[in-house]
Amino acid sequence: MKKAVITKFGDSSVISIIEADIPKLAKDEVLVKVKAAALNPKDILIRKGKFKKFSGKKFPQGIGFDFSGIIEETNNTSFQKGDAVFGMINGWHGRCCAEYVNVKATELSQKPDNISFPDAAGIPLAAQTALQALRNSGKLKSGQKVLINGASGGVGTLAIQIARELGAKVTTISSSKNLDFCESLGSHDSLSYEKIDIRKIDRQFDLFFDVFGNYDFSKVNHLLSEKGRYVTTVPKASIIKEQLKNHFRSKMAKLVVVKSKDSDLEWLAGKLKSNTLKSVIDKVISFDQIKEAQEYIETKRAKGKVVIEIN
Ligand SMILES: NC(=O)c1ccc[n+]([C@@H]2O[C@H](COP(=O)([O-])OP(=O)(O)OC[C@H]3O[C@@H](n4cnc5c(N)ncnc54)[C@H](OP(=O)(O)O)[C@@H]3O)[C@@H](O)[C@H]2O)c1
Repeated sequence: MKKAVITKFGDSSVISIIEADIPKLAKDEVLVKVKAAALNPKDILIRKGKFKKFSGKKFPQGIGFDFSGIIEETNNTSFQKGDAVFGMINGWHGRCCAEYVNVKATELSQKPDNISFPDAAGIPLAAQTALQALRNSGKLKSGQKVLINGASGGVGTLAIQIARELGAKVTTISSSKNLDFCESLGSHDSLSYEKIDIRKIDRQFDLFFDVFGNYDFSKVNHLLSEKGRYVTTVPKASIIKEQLKNHFRSKMAKLVVVKSKDSDLEWLAGKLKSNTLKSVIDKVISFDQIKEAQEYIETKRAKGKVVIEIN
């Protein structure tokens, strides 16, 4: 089978498509014939060696954590050959940008019939990050106010919609050119980072979700209500320190670390089925253009997800 790999750490030139064996299944795994795989900033950070502590230094290393496709073989009774599925694999060894991928039965769900394979591939990592950040770490409740920074990217576009689904009043921060785009996804009020000075905003929010990760807790503390929460996606020294202080104050600072769970994928599948959540795809790119796809994500200008069509 064809499989995208990196042959060492570096820029996009280290990406190749090679011939590899079809994976063998372990207990409770399924083999998925991949139709589409989405890319994430995580793939780029791994390629650059930023997570080598976790990904290891053995090459070649596979690419991709998000997939959609059709079950070819199964070692789990919840799934049958021929099921259309979507999901995200956990850990630090990507392998979904390939013709086949082995996946634990807890890392996937049935794909809703009303969405395409590329649309389904764009959901799992980004939407589970948004859901787990807003609902679990942020404890966002109906009627509360959330401010989402980095709202027009892969995670942000899904966070806007999920926050609305949780009943929140949503304010977003993006570039000026994406203000209308954020409102089209459900933002009640969209702010441009080119025009605002975060220190001068005199409104209060129950949750500040820093998707882009350029505002530390100390910079947005003044925006949080008395028991307000700050959640970031970016693991920096400052958030590790802030988390230690949570016990001594009413405001909370949290780092979200996404985990693929069948219950969350099923929650998302339900919302997709009822058309209350939609996948936001910037580009669908062919498998042989995976280098260009990664280079595009590196520009940090993607409006939603970048998806690779495999089979
Ligand atoms: N901890 C976890 O489990 C986890 C999970 C998923 C993602 N992440 C991290 O979360 C971050 C976002 O991921 P993503 O998939 O959403 O990335 P992405 O799709 O690549 O984000 C692109 C977006 O970033 C926005 N952006 C660029 N500069 C900005 C700025 N100065 N202020 C606000 N927004 C800006 C752009 O909007 P404009 O063009 O409008 O500026 C663009 O829409 C990444 O660092 C990723 O590694 C962490």
